[in-house]
Amino acid sequence: MTDALKWIDPDDNRHLSEIKHRDEAIIKSLDLNIEEMIKMWVYIDYRKANKLIDLFSYYLKKPFNGNGIDLGAGTGLFSSVLANKGINKVYALEIVPSFINYVIPLVANHYSKEKSHKIIPVLGTFDDIQLPNNSLDFAFEYDAFHHSENLRVTFSAIHQKLKPGGNLLIIDRCHPDSMTDEEVQKLLNIQYSEKFLNKHGYDENLVLTRRENGEHEYRKNEWMSAIENSGFNIKVFRTFYNKVSLKQLYWYMLSTIKGKRGRDLSILKIFLAQNFGIYLSDYNTLTPMRESLSTNKTFIILEKV
Ligand SMILES: C[S@@+](CC[C@H](N)C(=O)[O-])C[C@H]1O[C@@H](n2cnc3c(N)ncnc32)[C@H](O)[C@@H]1O
Repeated sequence: MTDALKWIDPDDNRHLSEIKHRDEAIIKSLDLNIEEMIKMWVYIDYRKANKLIDLFSYYLKKPFNGNGIDLGAGTGLFSSVLANKGINKVYALEIVPSFINYVIPLVANHYSKEKSHKIIPVLGTFDDIQLPNNSLDFAFEYDAFHHSENLRVTFSAIHQKLKPGGNLLIIDRCHPDSMTDEEVQKLLNIQYSEKFLNKHGYDENLVLTRRENGEHEYRKNEWMSAIENSGFNIKVFRTFYNKVSLKQLYWYMLSTIKGKRGRDLSILKIFLAQNFGIYLSDYNTLTPMRESLSTNKTFIILEKV
């Protein structure tokens, strides 16, 4: 396994509650096996992570190659998947020291074995990537950018480092524009339950809101304006929805005919996309994915022009 790089001082951010508590919880969970650790921090397993990466290849119409970066790498699960795909190297960038010091090396050795040298753990922030400009072939993030304090800063930082033609690949959550500021604040004020704290190895008496844990609830227009501001070209911007059944479609159509339709999410649009690959909206719109891989997550492919 390649030695870790340090682009920030490990003590720089320890005072931030989101980092301090996560760091301590990780250290407490080191006696778990790899699968249990992954389940605790990422919620999906290697097989599904592999399928998601293959889906990006499918939409990009090319295999992964060259040098890349996994932004907010956490456990390093996706870095391992990428290392097994024939790339040259991947920087596993993460802000929490114990992921870098303990978890990423364990996960890399477990899943990537003799290819684990391709994974370079980096303690740092995705807002300050200390690599030469125009040097990366691709960048990837899974559920990390909703921790960004400022999406514009984050997108611009990675745009600078990609080669022209390089891709930024995102799987994250994106709320509809219909979500109000009040609803956003309500979500961020939620305090974690004892069950959640226990499950993640936090002290069960801890009082921690989602806001204090670094969460943000970005809406589509906030994602779009940061992406456009940084100069990326959008190739795909879609959301995975649950598979729509014929029964749901029937009730939806019936309520539409009766003029009772109250929801702005079009079941018909989702049904057509999932079953026939027909998208009634342009690429720039939150359109449903035909594949139902990661429900309610948004899948974005950007290109540096
Ligand atoms: C929900 S987890 C994502 C899981 C991860 N992609 C994986 O596969 O295990 C979000 C991760 O982003 C990290 N993070 C948050 N802010 C960051 C920043 N500014 N720079 C780098 N990583 C950050 C968090 O510490 C956390 O590990």
